[in-house]
Amino acid sequence: MAIIGCVGSGLVGRSWAIVFARAGHQVRLWDSRPSADAVASLAATLEGLAREGAIPSLGDVASRISFADSLKQAVSGADYVQESISERVDAKRELLRDLDAILPPHTIVGSSTSSIPASAFMAGLACSARCLIVHPVNPPHLIPLVELCPSPETAPETVEQTSALMTALGQRPIMVAREVEGFILNRLQWALLSEAMHLVGEGYCTPEDVDAVVTHGLARRWAHLGPLAVGHLNAATGLEGYFDGLGEAITRVRDTLRTDYVPSEQTIARAHAALEARMPVSNLSDHAATRDRRILALNRLLQDFEQQG
Ligand SMILES: NC(=O)c1ccc[n+]([C@@H]2O[C@H](COP(=O)([O-])OP(=O)(O)OC[C@H]3O[C@@H](n4cnc5c(N)ncnc54)[C@H](O)[C@@H]3O)[C@@H](O)[C@H]2O)c1
Repeated sequence: MAIIGCVGSGLVGRSWAIVFARAGHQVRLWDSRPSADAVASLAATLEGLAREGAIPSLGDVASRISFADSLKQAVSGADYVQESISERVDAKRELLRDLDAILPPHTIVGSSTSSIPASAFMAGLACSARCLIVHPVNPPHLIPLVELCPSPETAPETVEQTSALMTALGQRPIMVAREVEGFILNRLQWALLSEAMHLVGEGYCTPEDVDAVVTHGLARRWAHLGPLAVGHLNAATGLEGYFDGLGEAITRVRDTLRTDYVPSEQTIARAHAALEARMPVSNLSDHAATRDRRILALNRLLQDFEQQG
């Protein structure tokens, strides 16, 4: 059992706390704006997971998570710290400087940042060799992927130890070999989002149909096959055959793609209104709970597939 400090108890910080606690680790959560809502929300999530049979024992997991009174209390003696504070580089830089002054010499620090390269806030510190990005997908207690993105100062053994820790937690680490804005997941996600807004903004289709294309089309394969594997299976001779057969079409379409598209306020408002009709903002937490139950059900199915080979 390790001691884990989780800094930031928002959406992602609370979910990380569950990932560590369900694996048997002792978790101390710290937030500079402690809130009763965060405590209640964590308890509600744990109860929901217990109802679904997704955690072994509600009492055991809950008892391993405590809220600390200070940053120092959260991280003293910690083997690993997961930073999940607001996505502001100045705030992350200040936090890393504070951590540098108080961390034990063996502690590894992983950051949940969605897009900021490690060298922008984890460099030039005594602990830099033990710092890296450990970018989860929200919520990490339901979606296993984590992107490990070291800075040029991160020691190789930090990456190895973090990869081993993530695997032992049941997460699925991938390595980002060189620093790049948005890492891998958000580059793919935001390229698709930009083209989706282009298609809606320029009147090619409705916001509802963009989402339908993914949920009723692309994502039916994507839950178990990546886009390269999809191409491989879509041609009799595999991915090379796919590019041979469709290379010209891909080039023609690619030349008209707009991953640089900046949607107007009206386009964003139109897409928002379409979503509001289906999932009102006043009710978002219910829709997020439904999303999470469905991810859990899908996870069970995918685990069966993995066992079948
Ligand atoms: N929400 C997502 O989908 C998602 C997915 C992957 C990664 N992330 C990343 O995770 C991090 C957290 O995102 P979130 O969605 O949980 O945000 P959030 O706003 O829900 O939570 C951030 C929390 O950090 C606290 N905080 C801010 N400054 C602090 C400090 N100096 N010390 C301690 N606590 C502090 C805030 O009070 C807040 O409770 C961000 O870096 C974000 O980019 C988010």
